[in-house]
Amino acid sequence: MALVTTTEMFKKAYNGGYAVGAFNVNNMEIVQGITEAAGELKSPVILQVSKGARAYANHTYLVKLVEAAIAENPEIPIALHLDHGDSFELCKSCIDGGFTSVMIDASSKSFEDNIALTKQVVEYAHDKGVVVEAELGTLAGVEDEVVVEAGNEMFTRPEEVEEFVDKTGCDSLAIAIGTSHGAYKFKPGTDPKLRFDVLEECTKRLPGFPIVLHGSSSVPQEFVKMINDNGGNMPGAIGIPEDQLRHAAELSVCKINIDSDIRLAMTGVIRKYFMEHPDHFDPRQYLKPARQAVKDMVSHKIKNVLGSDGKA
Ligand code: G3H
Ligand code: 13P
Ligand code: ZN
Repeated sequence: MALVTTTEMFKKAYNGGYAVGAFNVNNMEIVQGITEAAGELKSPVILQVSKGARAYANHTYLVKLVEAAIAENPEIPIALHLDHGDSFELCKSCIDGGFTSVMIDASSKSFEDNIALTKQVVEYAHDKGVVVEAELGTLAGVEDEVVVEAGNEMFTRPEEVEEFVDKTGCDSLAIAIGTSHGAYKFKPGTDPKLRFDVLEECTKRLPGFPIVLHGSSSVPQEFVKMINDNGGNMPGAIGIPEDQLRHAAELSVCKINIDSDIRLAMTGVIRKYFMEHPDHFDPRQYLKPARQAVKDMVSHKIKNVLGSDGKA
């Protein structure tokens, strides 16, 4: 199967009560780990590239790695998506450069400016057969260079979603219901709870329309411990409980973004490897278990959180 847009994936996910995982890619091992898991489990998958990933690895390298993954996994649909595009120019560059989906994140702008910029991207993208994710409401945490303090996040206002989707023509909408980016999502001792009332209200107003959740890592304590036991220092790292994400996937959420969990798994495994093998210096030796950790993490998410196994 060639590179696809998310249109068909989301239609099936919405009707089937599951979500498609969107995983950030920055290098070969991450692309391989994610797509090997999705390929074996016959799951659709979205590979997403941030502005930072493009700056780190280079647009062409990332596109070619994804092309290689498609050739190696011909039985599953794969979409290539720009994560948190912050300008028309960045979105245009990815649309012209082979991506099948882009996000324009103008959520920090006013409602009117968000509509205007999103509409501009949608018009350009649709003309080229590319789909567009937009965002309403802001998440706490770090979105590329924008840092939003916990407590200053703004939940999506359901009364705005219909007008926003009507006026922009976007294909999916990321909403803020209490998820946030990074490894420190909740204060230790608090009870992490997503705002399902906001999600349900948005769904009522946009029946059949795919909703996206960013900041959906669960920060598995097994990997936080592995990092801390092997020279790291990440006290109080806490994520979104997986059962709440599974519930969201059964509702209108069709795309769930997961990046930090992959970073934690790779870092934990590499730290442990070096502690156990202080004399090793061949990158293949420590990147091999790191790649396996990515694959195991993505397999776990597909089976236990997304429910997308067997849906390719
Ligand atoms: O939400 C952002 C993703 O985790 C990508 O992060 O900007 O560090 O590549 P990045
Ligand atoms: P996490 O930091 O929770 O993995 O979120 C990733 C994300 O939303 C990418 O856009
Ligand atoms: Zn995000």
